[in-house]
Amino acid sequence: MLPLKFRLLHWGVAFSVLLNAFVLDEGKQIHRYLGYSAIVLVALRIIFWKQRKVTHYNDKAKYVYWCIWFCILGLSLTGFLMGLDRFFGNQTLEDIHEIISNVLLFLTGIHLSGLFFDAFKNKRKTWMVMINGEKL
Ligand code: HEM
Ligand code: HEM
Repeated sequence: MLPLKFRLLHWGVAFSVLLNAFVLDEGKQIHRYLGYSAIVLVALRIIFWKQRKVTHYNDKAKYVYWCIWFCILGLSLTGFLMGLDRFFGNQTLEDIHEIISNVLLFLTGIHLSGLFFDAFKNKRKTWMVMINGEKL
């Protein structure tokens, strides 16, 4: 059973990423707060790492997860720098922010295809672990 707190942290991160990438106006206050909340949730997730009872379906998936977390950290850092007077309107930072965001979405695509592929190959509902916490 995957404890509820891990599922809540996961969905919190997933929603912040999707909202910031596709829904919210770029760079507005709410975009910034949501971006920072994602990095806080990721930090909590890493702190709780050792408490996680359920092992990964695919051990190599953890590399994708670390890359996702690293991108979220990069977005917070570049986002923060863009807000400083010194870098106001800096095109390079904006470009880097956008590139990291695209890499993050690509990794999310790998994550979702991995879940899909695993479900198909092993005939199990892999994604249910993030919904009801049961590993099938
Ligand atoms: C989950 C995290 C985040 C994602 C997925 C994300 C994604 C994006 C995307 C796709 C854009 C539009 C880029 C463009 O087309 O120019 C953008 C713009 C922007 N983001 Fe983020 N972002 C995140 C976090 C943050 C954070 C934490 C901050 C600041 C504290 C921030 C500040 C900004 C600013 C100021 C812009 C406007 C840049 C411009 O004027 O083009 N973002 N972000
Ligand atoms: C759309 C944005 C998403 C992002 C950024 C994302 C990110 C992550 C990350 C970083 C992890 C590893 C850390 C953790 O356990 O929280 C993870 C695990 C997981 N995610 Fe997602 N996720 C997203 C969407 C989804 C969706 C739509 C599902 C399907 C219901 C899903 C199902 C899972 C499952 C089942 C695991 C655990 C797999 C394992 O044990 O290896 N995720 N996700």
